[in-house]
Amino acid sequence: MKILFLDQSGKPGGAELCLIDIAKPYRDRALVGLFADGPFKTLLQQNQISVEVLTTQSIQVKKSSSFLQGLKSLRQIIPLIIKVVKRAKGYDLIYANTQKALVIGAIASFFARRPLVYHLHDILSKEHFSQTNRRIAINLANYFASLVIANSQASQTAFVQAGGRANITTVVYNGFEPKIYQTCESDVRQLQQELGLIGKFVIGHFSRLAPWKGQHILIDALAKCPQQVTVILVGDALFGEQDYVQQLHRQVTALGLKNRVNFLGFRADVPQLMAACDLVAHTSTFAEPFGRVIVEAMLCGTPVVATKAGGAMELIEPGINGFLVQPGDFQELAQVITTCLHERHKTATMAHNARKIASQHFDVKIINQQISQLLSSKFN
Ligand code: UDP
Ligand code: GLC
Repeated sequence: MKILFLDQSGKPGGAELCLIDIAKPYRDRALVGLFADGPFKTLLQQNQISVEVLTTQSIQVKKSSSFLQGLKSLRQIIPLIIKVVKRAKGYDLIYANTQKALVIGAIASFFARRPLVYHLHDILSKEHFSQTNRRIAINLANYFASLVIANSQASQTAFVQAGGRANITTVVYNGFEPKIYQTCESDVRQLQQELGLIGKFVIGHFSRLAPWKGQHILIDALAKCPQQVTVILVGDALFGEQDYVQQLHRQVTALGLKNRVNFLGFRADVPQLMAACDLVAHTSTFAEPFGRVIVEAMLCGTPVVATKAGGAMELIEPGINGFLVQPGDFQELAQVITTCLHERHKTATMAHNARKIASQHFDVKIINQQISQLLSSKFN
């Protein structure tokens, strides 16, 4: 099956990293069309996946945009649609991986007469999207998509609650290559030394810097924890959240935590860094659609605490393979951190369990088989 994948981003967010794994088995007969240039293109090329940047003009519609703003962007998107229609004629299927890709992909699928798959990586709730954006996504998916692959039950439920057709949706979790998450002791030790982490209790936060990812909650929690607890913040502001970055730095200074919080920026060595942590914290203040970092921490054998909402609740069984805390509750988070600090043996057993379960449930080979079966049963 020849697939034209579409993604709006040039940056490697979770949806884009997931797409690399999905596109890989089709790489000798697939093209990934991007609506922006950037490091994601390079990552695809490094994985020998054909990629073309279809436009370098960013589409001026935001998650909060109104209908009128949406209409204004039409002038911009028509040339892009024409290009996608032309490309689509050489493929059997259009696979839209993001919301703007759905808009373009849906219209192109109509004109090119090719079926459309929509991989839903978002929770279509009012916290995350304007009503207009939700309506557009739901209507386009309902009318044009033959299949909606949701990245979690939480994303699927929100889609259906917002009016999406239940009978075209199915849940497929993100897949991971467990081997990538095994780091040898000496490499871990070296990294800890380089980063000045030896002798400390290290909490890692791995996410783009954005208000709803809740790095500020972790910093507030840290202020309540014993002195040996330190934080590494791994990730960058991928979508222009510079005000939030400034706010985080001011918060760290105001709380006197400069020596205990290390901003590492975007890193390509997440598995090694996670292995160098005593605990990984996921602190999203809104429901996380899936939460790759949670599974990644499990695969590294590092204990994980996440917020009790969205996809995280499908990944963590509290007390068995991790901890859950209320979103936004820094006091509860500080308590969990302190428990992990004092009960290392118990927490290590939990992390060991988590690694075993995650390696079985999220193995990329199994996930890719699920996708391949879905596509061939629908479109062959
Ligand atoms: N990530 C990364 N480098 C960083 C920070 C994050 O490679 O510096 C990766 C992380 O390992 C994860 C992805 O970015 O695979 C983020 O995906 P997630 O689903 O957790 O959140 P998203 O940002 O997509 O909402
Ligand atoms: C999106 C979601 C994230 C999910 C990722 C992969 O970026 O925000 O929760 O893990 O897609 O499906």
